[in-house]
Amino acid sequence: MRTKASPQARSGARDIAGRPIAVLVVHGPNLNLLGEREPEVYGRTRLADIDRELQRRGREMNLEVETFQSNSEGAIVDRIQQARNKSEILIINPGAYTHTSVAIRDAILAVAIPVIEVHLSNVYKREPFRHHSTIADIAHGRIMGFGAESYDLALQAARTIVEAARAETSRAGRT
Ligand code: DQA
Repeated sequence: MRTKASPQARSGARDIAGRPIAVLVVHGPNLNLLGEREPEVYGRTRLADIDRELQRRGREMNLEVETFQSNSEGAIVDRIQQARNKSEILIINPGAYTHTSVAIRDAILAVAIPVIEVHLSNVYKREPFRHHSTIADIAHGRIMGFGAESYDLALQAARTIVEAARAETSRAGRT
């Protein structure tokens, strides 16, 4: 038997098309030096240019993009904690903390939002110590090796993941 959709489910359906998706992008240590730092590895695009492009693409895709960079592990943990009940998805390049930080992993688990791990370089073409990531197994997915474009690919993936989650919530509200 067909039942009428609840007001909650109806608003859920509207959300999929309407409410902007809140995306937090976190850049870890030394990424503030992009453009100058080892350009043969990381390219010539500056972090400010990456952030500007993320904002521009975000507006096109109905995403509300916030960006944050810190060289300090504690500041990154604080920023991830602030995303709790606010951001719908986290895109993170933890830089060197990728390979060492249990604190960033724990912060991600604590806020319980989906995560996309991003790297400019393909870490598997580099030193063995870069092959380990403390967040690989809790990430929705990992994008690496495309330089600054890795972030754009992550943004597209972020939209797909959140739209699917919203559609699922909306379906659950209807049953
Ligand atoms: C990086 C890779 C890390 O191994 C390195 O420490 C970085 C940048 C990348 O984007 O390729 O700082 O995360």
